Amino acid sequence: MLFAFIALIIIQLTNASLPPICVDGYTLVNGKCLRLFHEETYHTRAEQTCRIFEGTLFDVKNAIDNRAIASFIGSQVETVWMGLFCFNNNLCLWDDNSGSTAAYDNFSPGNPKVTTGSCVYFETSSGRWLSAPCTEPRSYVCETPSTHEDPCYYNYNNYCYTFSHNQSSFTTAQAICEEECGNLVSIHSANENRYLMNIASHRASDNVLIGGMWPMDHMNTWVDGTMWDYSNIDSVYNPKNRCIAMANNGTSEYNLGQWFGVDCEGLSSFFCKRPAGVPCSTDQPKVTVTPVPSNESFCNSTVLMTPGIITSPNYPQNYDNNVYCSYKLSTLGSYNILLEFTSFSTEENVDLVTVYDGESTNGLKIGTYSGSREPFHLISKGNNFFVTFATDSRNVFKGFSATFVAYST
Ligand SMILES: *[C@@H]1O[C@H](CO)[C@@H](O)[C@H](O)[C@H]1NC(C)=O
Ligand SMILES: *[C@@H]1O[C@H](CO)[C@@H](O)[C@H](O)[C@H]1NC(C)=O
Ligand SMILES: *[C@@H]1O[C@H](CO)[C@@H](O)[C@H](O)[C@H]1NC(C)=O
Ligand SMILES: *[C@@H]1O[C@H](CO)[C@@H](O)[C@H](O)[C@H]1NC(C)=O
Repeated sequence: MLFAFIALIIIQLTNASLPPICVDGYTLVNGKCLRLFHEETYHTRAEQTCRIFEGTLFDVKNAIDNRAIASFIGSQVETVWMGLFCFNNNLCLWDDNSGSTAAYDNFSPGNPKVTTGSCVYFETSSGRWLSAPCTEPRSYVCETPSTHEDPCYYNYNNYCYTFSHNQSSFTTAQAICEEECGNLVSIHSANENRYLMNIASHRASDNVLIGGMWPMDHMNTWVDGTMWDYSNIDSVYNPKNRCIAMANNGTSEYNLGQWFGVDCEGLSSFFCKRPAGVPCSTDQPKVTVTPVPSNESFCNSTVLMTPGIITSPNYPQNYDNNVYCSYKLSTLGSYNILLEFTSFSTEENVDLVTVYDGESTNGLKIGTYSGSREPFHLISKGNNFFVTFATDSRNVFKGFSATFVAYST
């Protein structure tokens, strides 16, 4: 019995137990793939170069990583940019959207110090982190996830991807993907989205179908059954369009890499995804779709990072009288926020939504909105938007729903 149990676990871990490898000139360092670029450049430019090589500026989550990076760089360069941006002396966030330095940091005493600069560099000799203006030229280290050995062409973070030009509907595309032991692609991070966007823009110019759907209003699912834990939707929800495509370089209305609704019967190029290093057996069980409902309003929540959705309380039902809500939206590094009100209905001139360009009501007031409005969008000047919603003691309406995404101007 015990042996049977162990054998089962081993079979399930076949892919995870393969040795990790790195591609594209990266070196495996303590489980991550790193590559040192000697040329000195400013922070944003360094980040852009990392993206070309499917990575981001490196992050450090523990002391072992910190030492491994110092010894990887050795004496080749004295300092390198890190993928870290500080909003204030108590809040520094990793550029790859993986959170803050709350769990681990190795700042030099007196740092971070945003009056010196919002970017952070790594001092190789000491392994310490220091604040600096983002415009200073420095060498840098890019990081990309390790993967598993597989003869597939697009191998990233333990998955193999294929791009198909064969113009297909959603169900046909999914059937073709299943034949190669995969599914239409599910996308779980900004990095994965960027990786696929780069491939798509070199291979075709039309929209690319991905494995996302709206099976019912305000509910998103991935056809492979994975969690809906990342979204890059930038569009008005249209109930006729229940499938999701990624905008490519020939898509005029949307930014490259953004997602929007398309007709499920329409024909598009598409991406498939399967685990790397796992042989394709033909009797793969069919995947069941498990929807992840989410109707939270996020009224009075702490900081919300892009991307996300905020709504008035009770939406799509009516809000209450005498409600006050605030929403603090934030994004990383060099991005701005694109806030799109996809649905808007409040009592004219009385129940008001106010948007400030900043972290609080002290920011510049962009506008006060009420009544019944067509979808509209706003773009922040910096990393934050502060939104308030206040209603009086009479008359209630459906309220609003708004998506917010990182946006690069
Ligand atoms: C292309 O798509 C059609 C259906 O649209 C399908 O019958 C055919 O097998 C596909 N070809 C390949 C090479 O996948
Ligand atoms: C857009 O897509 C086409 C492929 O159809 C590609 O040849 C071209 O280089 C792409 N343009 C950009 C700017 O990426
Ligand atoms: C979420 O919204 C749907 C309508 O879009 C509604 O039927 C459902 O009851 C809501 N769920 C919760 C938990 O509020
Ligand atoms: C939100 O917070 C404010 C105080 O900051 C409070 O007055 C208000 O009642 C809260 N709203 C809700 C719906 O809890």
